[in-house]
Amino acid sequence: MHRLNKYIFLLIVVFVIITCSTQKHYKTLSFFFDGVPEPLSDSLKVQNDTLDIDSLHILALLKQNSIPEIFYHVPFKEKECASCHDQATMGSFIQPQPGLCYQCHDDFNTNYKTLHGPVAAGFCTECHNPHQSKEKYLLIENGEKLCFTCHDSEEVKENQFHNIAEETNCVNCHNPHGGENQFVLQKGACFKCHDDFKNQYKYLHGPVAGGFCMECHTPHIEGTGNLIRKGQDLCLYCHDKELVFKNENHQDIDDASCTECHNPHGGENRFILY
Ligand code: HEC
Ligand code: HEC
Ligand code: HEC
Ligand code: HEC
Ligand code: HEC
Ligand code: HEC
Ligand code: HEC
Ligand code: HEC
Ligand code: HEC
Repeated sequence: MHRLNKYIFLLIVVFVIITCSTQKHYKTLSFFFDGVPEPLSDSLKVQNDTLDIDSLHILALLKQNSIPEIFYHVPFKEKECASCHDQATMGSFIQPQPGLCYQCHDDFNTNYKTLHGPVAAGFCTECHNPHQSKEKYLLIENGEKLCFTCHDSEEVKENQFHNIAEETNCVNCHNPHGGENQFVLQKGACFKCHDDFKNQYKYLHGPVAGGFCMECHTPHIEGTGNLIRKGQDLCLYCHDKELVFKNENHQDIDDASCTECHNPHGGENRFILY
């Protein structure tokens, strides 16, 4: 009896395997073997209507996890290895940086009065990968992380100006390569926090209109009243003394500060008088 039962059972099994739907087939199989993957369950199948939404979700997920775009340096991609490497040894370079890079790129010395420390020292590859990167401009890091590989983040954030600035992207205010002064500021950096005076005055003083604030002002931290020069010297640095004193309006102003009559930033008339 026991034996027969077993045969009948096996027959049923074979029958089931041959005739039944996948769903049932699965149940049978998993009765015998563990770990057979479960096909779409009924509850999932019902959601066929919502497949569009599901697949959109999957697309979004795919995008999030997609392989990052890689940016290639042109001479690397073009396999012009010899433009940088000594091909005989492959390890050494045909010349040291920054000369290596200035073969094809503008020498920053010609563009800026002051160079940023690592640029002056020729450490281009402290910030750039010479071959390829997942960051734009072949950068080794993005955003402020790049700057904080060398600068102390606490110190920079403690600086009162960084503290109150709503702008946090360092390169919106600082030029990574160089600038007109020690602080390698981008033109217009002052206007992230100060008025550009354009709506305040009908006429703007030349250097103000040009955004050359640092021609008269010192950086904040030096704290010497915020002016580079005092009294008449501030103005006579650019204006010719002889010409100025020829003007009859300047007859008796020997000791007067020019800003007693002139607004250094702008005014309602051409002569920017108060
Ligand atoms: C624009 C200049 C330049 C070009 C072009 C260039 N390399 Fe390099 N390569 C460098 C510099 C600079 C380094 C050192 C990187 C560093 O110190 O961070 C380097 C490093 C290497 C290294 C050492 C391992 C590494 O990745 O740091 C190998 C290998 C190498 N390059 C192979 C190649 C090959 C192969 C090519 C051509 C397909 C090529 N390079 C093209 C500048 C270049
Ligand atoms: C053989 C010529 C050559 C040399 C040498 C060279 N470059 Fe370039 N580099 C190029 C060309 C070509 C481009 C693409 C120009 C463009 O897009 O305006 C480029 C673009 C770049 C860019 C901008 C990439 C971007 O995505 O916009 C950076 C950054 C750069 N190079 C850094 C360097 C550094 C750092 C070195 C020295 C290690 C160097 N290059 C040496 C030819 C060179
Ligand atoms: C302190 C980090 C740093 C150093 C050092 C540095 N760069 Fe850059 N460089 C940057 C950043 C950041 C950008 C992207 C600027 C932007 O977002 O507008 C950039 C952009 C560039 C570009 C493409 C845009 C442009 O301004 O032409 C080139 C080319 C370049 N660098 C070359 C060089 C060379 C050559 C050197 C070495 C002499 C160098 N860099 C050193 C940070 C650096
Ligand atoms: C590879 C290291 C390195 C990286 C990366 C770097 N710097 Fe610098 N930075 C220096 C050095 C070195 C000096 C010169 C220090 C000095 O003169 O006291 C300097 C000076 C400066 C100064 C002038 C400070 C002063 O007191 O004169 C500013 C501003 C500055 N960096 C901003 C930046 C910004 C913004 C970034 C990111 C785009 C950046 N740095 C990334 C090394 C770096
Ligand atoms: C991140 C914001 C920020 C930036 C950028 C900034 N400043 Fe200021 N500035 C301030 C704050 C806040 C004060 C007031 C605190 C003080 O008096 O020291 C100030 C004060 C001043 C003063 C003195 C005002 C007075 O009443 O005596 C001058 C002048 C000045 N800034 C000029 C500039 C110039 C020029 C630039 C561009 C190089 C600049 N600032 C960039 C925030 C900023
Ligand atoms: C020709 C020299 C000169 C230039 C250029 C200049 N300033 Fe001034 N600035 C002065 C003088 C002088 C004072 C002090 C005025 C006083 O004491 O009455 C002053 C005062 C200030 C003050 C504090 C008082 C106020 O008016 O709010 C700020 C802020 C300021 N300047 C910002 C700037 C900015 C931003 C720029 C660039 C757009 C700039 N300055 C360009 C000479 C200049
Ligand atoms: C809103 C404009 C602005 C932004 C954004 C900004 N800075 Fe500055 N930063 C300045 C100005 C202006 C000065 C000059 C300080 C002064 O006038 O005394 C300065 C000074 C500095 C100095 C030299 C003085 C010091 O505190 O040591 C360093 C280094 C510096 N910045 C690094 C950075 C880094 C790194 C970032 C990004 C995290 C950054 N800055 C973002 C405007 C900015
Ligand atoms: C950084 C250089 C610079 C400094 C410093 C400077 N100026 Fe000027 N100034 C100019 C320029 C550039 C013009 C525009 C030239 C023009 O329109 O003929 C100008 C124009 C003027 C004008 C109008 C002239 C005209 O004929 O329309 C007056 C007035 C004037 N400046 C007064 C001053 C006074 C006062 C100071 C000192 C507080 C001063 N300047 C400091 C560069 C400077
Ligand atoms: C007592 C008030 C007063 C003082 C102080 C003063 N100015 Fe003037 N300035 C004027 C008047 C008024 C005009 C001319 C307006 C006209 O011609 O209608 C003028 C015109 C100018 C002009 C344009 C005309 C020209 O001569 O080129 C410049 C530039 C100028 N001043 C610079 C200066 C400088 C620099 C100082 C400081 C050494 C100074 N001013 C001090 C009142 C003054």
